[in-house]
Amino acid sequence: MRGGTTTAIDSRYAHRPVMVAEVVEHLSAVPSGVFLDATIGGGGHARALLNARPDLSLVGLDRDPSAVEAASTGLADRGTTICQACFSQLGEVLDGLGVSELAGSLFDFGVSSPQIDQPQRGFSYRKDGPLDMRMDPSQQLSADEVVNGWPEAELLRILRDYGDERYARRIASAIVAARPIASTAALAAVAREAIPAPARRRGGHPAKRAFQAVRIAVNDELSQIEPALEAAIDRTAPGGRGVVLSYHSGEDRIAKHVLRRRAGLNDESRFRGLPRSPSQAPPVIELVPRGSRRPSPAELADNPRASSARFRGFCKLGDDQCKLGDDQAEGAA
Ligand SMILES: C[S@@+](CC[C@H](N)C(=O)[O-])C[C@H]1O[C@@H](n2cnc3c(N)ncnc32)[C@H](O)[C@@H]1O
Repeated sequence: MRGGTTTAIDSRYAHRPVMVAEVVEHLSAVPSGVFLDATIGGGGHARALLNARPDLSLVGLDRDPSAVEAASTGLADRGTTICQACFSQLGEVLDGLGVSELAGSLFDFGVSSPQIDQPQRGFSYRKDGPLDMRMDPSQQLSADEVVNGWPEAELLRILRDYGDERYARRIASAIVAARPIASTAALAAVAREAIPAPARRRGGHPAKRAFQAVRIAVNDELSQIEPALEAAIDRTAPGGRGVVLSYHSGEDRIAKHVLRRRAGLNDESRFRGLPRSPSQAPPVIELVPRGSRRPSPAELADNPRASSARFRGFCKLGDDQCKLGDDQAEGAA
């Protein structure tokens, strides 16, 4: 299988999964059992993994009911269980299904192509639509409230922290001055006009980072990552494996921190040649690879939406399947 292969399992929900070959290569070594896809989306990664490992049972989660419907249809022949839930609820969902141990897990953060490509979902800075951006349309908070209701200081914070936006102050103040902002096209125009003209031509669409910031705020995306990863690691069987795909520095920073801590690599005493600090829990996972991986140049050329992807993987300790022999670290970033 090649990284750039399209795996649209439901033609109405066409999402091109990222780093499929790398994900399947890492996860096909899991023991038999239940595999958790915590962000099932269109089910492309799940199908590729089940093709390689038809013996696995799959539980899929997504907070977006249209993703749940697409994955349920697309994977109907595989006897999977797909639930509408946030990945922060994974403990509850697995308990409800009587699953106490996982063979492995996958977290593929962020948005799917159908969410971005349907203007009525309000995620797109290229197509006009309502200010929505809710992954779960039954949720109360929408982009309209963030853009038209949040104080300027909060807008500044999210533009900086979630958008890595250099012109956060200018954009936050332009948004407040332009209120009420009625649509995604209007928000994109406000963000664009707030950025100095020479800078608009650099770094992709000028409204890209502002939209990312509002989307992460609306869906409260970052706060869910740590508890969900912890719960997945805790439930993973010895020799089981996990993959985390991040698309934003904030997501990757949290994933890296959790994985390194559970691998016993955040203990300062190690670097000073001291015995392990008593407060440091013993390692329960090994990082495989030790750092992160990026999509291949071929995949990047073929799928621009993969451009910011970072792959991190782990293997649960306690079994001889857990080796660093297949470590393909590209630096320990
Ligand atoms: C990049 S897509 C996943 C694509 C999927 N791997 C595939 O192959 O089609 C991310 C998905 O995760 C979902 N999602 C994002 N945050 C979530 C969360 N906290 N809980 C559950 N689902 C989430 C989104 O609704 C979206 O469908």
